[in-house]
Amino acid sequence: MAVKVLFVCLGNICRSPTAHGLFEHTVKMAGLADSIIVDSAGTGGWHTGNPPDARAQATALERGYDISALQARQVQRADYTDFDYILGMDAQNMTDLDSIKTPNYHGVLGLFLEVAGVGNDLEVPDPYYGGDAHFAQVIDLVEQGCHGLLERIKKEHGL
Ligand code: 4NP
Repeated sequence: MAVKVLFVCLGNICRSPTAHGLFEHTVKMAGLADSIIVDSAGTGGWHTGNPPDARAQATALERGYDISALQARQVQRADYTDFDYILGMDAQNMTDLDSIKTPNYHGVLGLFLEVAGVGNDLEVPDPYYGGDAHFAQVIDLVEQGCHGLLERIKKEHGL
């Protein structure tokens, strides 16, 4: 059965769709597209159905990743049944995810960059009210995280 990974941020239009698109690309390049399924969601539902923020799309495209087809959705309790890894971008995402968590969840629930081995307590900061440098920082961190996460999942699942 495929390993399922869900990236979560607040709006699902900046950080988590960036991680979704980049990790999907990383997985595909590794020849593991049939073994690892990727999705993203927001703890808030304000942007449901919307494509990623234009600045997130532009920053991703500059690095060669097209994330324009993604659509925002809100995280739901059923995600704890479906996903093996639920990865928040910052501490507030983790608090919000904890508040809807099912008690018997046996997957990996944690900060994306921590689970990926990039750094303890390391967050992907919210770029929404920031500028280009904030979006560039997001993609730098997400790229590092994607490599670390793939290595971890390969090891944990014998891929
Ligand atoms: P994201 O960024 O959580 O990385 O998608 C945000 C997007 C929208 C809002 C906040 C953060 N918002 O307040 O609408």
